[in-house]
Amino acid sequence: MKKRTVGYRGKLFRLEERFLRSSRQKFQFALALGEPRESDEMECIGVCEPNGKTTEKMIPLTGKDIIEGELPADLVLLLEKKFFLSKDEINHVMAKVNGDCLEKVLRQHTLICAEKYYEVKHKRNRETFNLGERIPYAARIFDEKEITALVDSALDFWLTTGRYTTLFEAAFANFLGVRYCSLTNSGSSANLLAFMGLTSPKLGYGKICRGDEVITVAAGFPTTVASILQYGAVPVFVDISLPTYNIDCDQLEVGLSEKTKAIMIAHTLGNPFDLRKVKEFCDQHNLWLIEDNCDALGAKYLYNGEWKYTGTIGHMATSSFYPPNHITMGEGGAVNTNDPQLKRLVESFRDWGRDCWCPTGHDNTCTHRFKQQFGELPFAYDHKYV
Ligand SMILES: Cc1ncc(COP(=O)(O)O)c(C=O)c1O
Repeated sequence: MKKRTVGYRGKLFRLEERFLRSSRQKFQFALALGEPRESDEMECIGVCEPNGKTTEKMIPLTGKDIIEGELPADLVLLLEKKFFLSKDEINHVMAKVNGDCLEKVLRQHTLICAEKYYEVKHKRNRETFNLGERIPYAARIFDEKEITALVDSALDFWLTTGRYTTLFEAAFANFLGVRYCSLTNSGSSANLLAFMGLTSPKLGYGKICRGDEVITVAAGFPTTVASILQYGAVPVFVDISLPTYNIDCDQLEVGLSEKTKAIMIAHTLGNPFDLRKVKEFCDQHNLWLIEDNCDALGAKYLYNGEWKYTGTIGHMATSSFYPPNHITMGEGGAVNTNDPQLKRLVESFRDWGRDCWCPTGHDNTCTHRFKQQFGELPFAYDHKYV
């Protein structure tokens, strides 16, 4: 069997006149993306000198991208000019690009393929969506940006919260107009975490204890209530009113007792409940308010003369990104709040009940990991596991 040559990937070649004449290509150089195959041909992309044009399908190539050899000048990698080159069409090897450069090229190239795939597989039979048009309930409306973002994230192969989480949390909080967004693995988990955050001893007298009561509605979503029961608090069910299917605020007083600590209810099917009345009631009786906003992302409510998104008025609010909802991550949810202490408590519960944690992929960002005394544990016990 013929022995395969390796060591071509990442190399930059000047092309043979013969190749240039026969192919009518407008570039003189090529970058090998892979090793020669059985046929002795390798996958390459075209490289040329800059001609003043730049598009996202072109990547500049300069001296800092090179680990061996030299460039004749600054060049441009043409991601869309892909072809197969035989070894005898190479004039000479000029340089080798570094791993970062090769990775960038392969990533961009994959994304361009993903975009083409979208056009063939998904766009072909779709009507295009125009802003302002009605979107059928639970329909999948997406375009090449979603497909390429999904593939881009898959290429990182970072399977827990990663760079897209950080970007999303900041952008989502900014969209709603709240200070913090903490992503979770579902809307139900977001409800659980928001509720559990309120059971922390760090809240002192305000914390919800087992046996305390939480006002909620008799006809609602199961996981708005499940966390209350799971913890051992008591849901006090009040009725809804028609036609909104939201809480009947006239019954709030009936549901109130000395043990009431919170109200946890959803904006049903995207229709805001009477936030003004419910919030006033909470303020008057010193109750926590959790808005289950899983059904209502984007709904607005006129609050104190200002149109605000639902999910921004209670102490905390939750979102779901399960596919039938307004935006989706496949699975996913979030807890949103303006309160730094509540954000910290929610994230502590989310991250296995830890006292302190670092952004994913980082270590000892607080610099106190091995410097503290915790109760009767040995001095300098690893803070990450407290
Ligand atoms: C009001 C409400 N709360 C909570 C959830 C749970 O969200 P998830 O399905 O992401 O767990 C849903 C589901 O869409 C919901 O409609």
